[in-house]
Amino acid sequence: MTIPPALRVLAAAGFAPSVIALYNLSFSKQEIFEQVLLNVGISFLGFLLTRKLIPILKPICLKRGLFGRDINKKGTEAGEKQIPESLGLAPGVVFLICLIVSQQLQSYDIWGIAAWLMQGARQEESSGWVPISESWLVDYNAALATICFMLFLGFADDVLDIPWRVKLMLPALASLPLVSAYGGGTGVALPLPLQSLGLPGYLELGALYKVYMVMLVVFCTNAINILAGVNGLEAGQTFVIACAVMFHNLWELAGHAGTQPNLRDGHLFSLFLMLPLAYVTLALLLFNWYPSQVFVGDTYTYFAGMAIAVAGILGHFSETLLLFLIPQVLNFAYSLPQLFKIVHCPRHRLPRYDVKTNLLHATPNWNLVNLMLHVFGPCTEQALCIRLLVFQVICCVAGLAARWSLTGIYKA
Ligand code: UD1
Ligand code: MG
Repeated sequence: MTIPPALRVLAAAGFAPSVIALYNLSFSKQEIFEQVLLNVGISFLGFLLTRKLIPILKPICLKRGLFGRDINKKGTEAGEKQIPESLGLAPGVVFLICLIVSQQLQSYDIWGIAAWLMQGARQEESSGWVPISESWLVDYNAALATICFMLFLGFADDVLDIPWRVKLMLPALASLPLVSAYGGGTGVALPLPLQSLGLPGYLELGALYKVYMVMLVVFCTNAINILAGVNGLEAGQTFVIACAVMFHNLWELAGHAGTQPNLRDGHLFSLFLMLPLAYVTLALLLFNWYPSQVFVGDTYTYFAGMAIAVAGILGHFSETLLLFLIPQVLNFAYSLPQLFKIVHCPRHRLPRYDVKTNLLHATPNWNLVNLMLHVFGPCTEQALCIRLLVFQVICCVAGLAARWSLTGIYKA
């Protein structure tokens, strides 16, 4: 399989910061490093499995009538082709398998067993891995149930084509296992400028925090789903966000957070979600990159958005997560007049394809895809996807920079 050069660059740019952070972690926190390495291995196997599974699922989806037409190629032969839809099912299922295997393996002293196999005797000392606590297990099961529920509802949407207003709220349903099992903190830290207005350093939200959780879940899932419609965009933005979160987690683990059990567990938990997400998404991109052989479907956008939201909530860095989601926040806010039907909203808010020039032109639809074309002029579909992903990378870097500079304005 030939991998498009742009996809190679995207993969390298996504993984490079995490490799540096992992190297850093290998010196500062050896036991955490080993645990992370195990998850890298599992996620890589997830990548291979997803890559194998997609070609198997393609003809099956076509046979069952699960396909779509490539709207941005309308008027050409490629635009007439039936493209298998809902292929997000493959990365979704493999992601869940990775999560379960990772959890199982962490319950065992893997390095001790390996030493025993190699030396014929079990090492006395334990691996020093972060032990799986009871609250970790509760969080883990809730996360698994919620992501699984979302994957199911996303697939149901692809099959049944659920009306827009109903499907907007599907993530709220899927978040129920997470919200009801959540037993962590229910307050938010306020930055010093707000404290100077008389507000406390730590604002206890109580039950309202659960409302905030549901809102975050509904936002993340729909935000990924509506920044879409260009080959490679849904999976591409998810890959960039997952890599940014992964880097954030690794960097924090190598520093102060790695020594504080509460912070450490949150970042580890998030990392164990984002690692397989990045890998299975990369495998999906091999098929979804321009020109797409498969469409990801709402199965994927909803599942990926939910995995990211769960990482932010259970990793206790949802405010930082929103900094990585600036393109999605902008797109969501800009889309509101159409989402609420104040302005006419067609079924697809995509650009207009010019068959003669092979370029996409902006339409009056209120989203970032069209705004990009307005600002930077018409371009090919692949160039449009690359522009949007570059913007995503810039926002993630800026988000990280803002997070680091903002740390000083929170009272410890
Ligand atoms: C969301 C967007 C819609 C956008 C669609 C594209 C809102 C409110 N909804 O709707 O504007 O058109 O996603 O996914 O913003 N498709 C392509 N090329 C691609 C990906 C998808 O042409 O690279 C088309 C295919 O016909 C595919 C269909 O989009 O079958 C999938 O649309 P779907 O995910 O069901 O749309 P929504 O999520 O409802
Ligand atoms: Mg969609």
